Amino acid sequence: MRGDSVIEEEKRAVARHVAEMIPDVEVLGLGSGTTVAKFVEELVNLGKRPKVVVTSSQIERVAKAHGLTVVELEDEVEITVDGADEVDPKGNLTKGGGGALLREKVLANSSKRYIIIADHTKLVDRLGTKTPIPVEIVPYGFKVTISALERMFGVKPKLRKLMDRPFVTDNGNFIVDLPIRVERPSEVETSIKVMNGVVDVGIFTGMADEIYVAKGNKVLRYK
Ligand code: A5P
Repeated sequence: MRGDSVIEEEKRAVARHVAEMIPDVEVLGLGSGTTVAKFVEELVNLGKRPKVVVTSSQIERVAKAHGLTVVELEDEVEITVDGADEVDPKGNLTKGGGGALLREKVLANSSKRYIIIADHTKLVDRLGTKTPIPVEIVPYGFKVTISALERMFGVKPKLRKLMDRPFVTDNGNFIVDLPIRVERPSEVETSIKVMNGVVDVGIFTGMADEIYVAKGNKVLRYK
């Protein structure tokens, strides 16, 4: 329990740090997850109330509960703040622990400044060390796509489930978790992404412009 509360405090600290640091913008992009939820709370506590573009029903609920206006992604946004499941030494990311990887990648690609906030447990030497790599796939023929991933990587991909049924993303797709340790993130990202039946993969290579990580009561800029 102690460990859990330390991590929660780190998420809070990094969320507050970035909420204070970023300039006021008209429209702000929001990733998903518990760290971004804390970031929304901190932002509103500071009296900052931008319109927001959201990446999941989870963060949409949080934003609306805090009185923020949610708008569509129609143009490039100045800043997006997002979390991560893993961060490697080059600042590549594993994302999609909450299943929001596709919208997060679309928004990241449409953001001038893509900022990642994370607690120190997210730092790894190689992507895939602590969490499997999420892959969003279309439900049609999903068993065929899973078999193709299995053949390509020689591991058993796991269909993500919720209460014994396939977990369904906000886009109506399934998620497969791939237990691989990634040596060359960019190559692996591309080779999975081009597979038939795959919508996107939770490897984000070279996308983060800035990464802030909390360790104890310090927040450090990692990239
Ligand atoms: C959502 O699908 C993910 O990409 C999240 O950004 C990631 O799982 C981080 O979540 P936490 O902030 O809850 O650790």
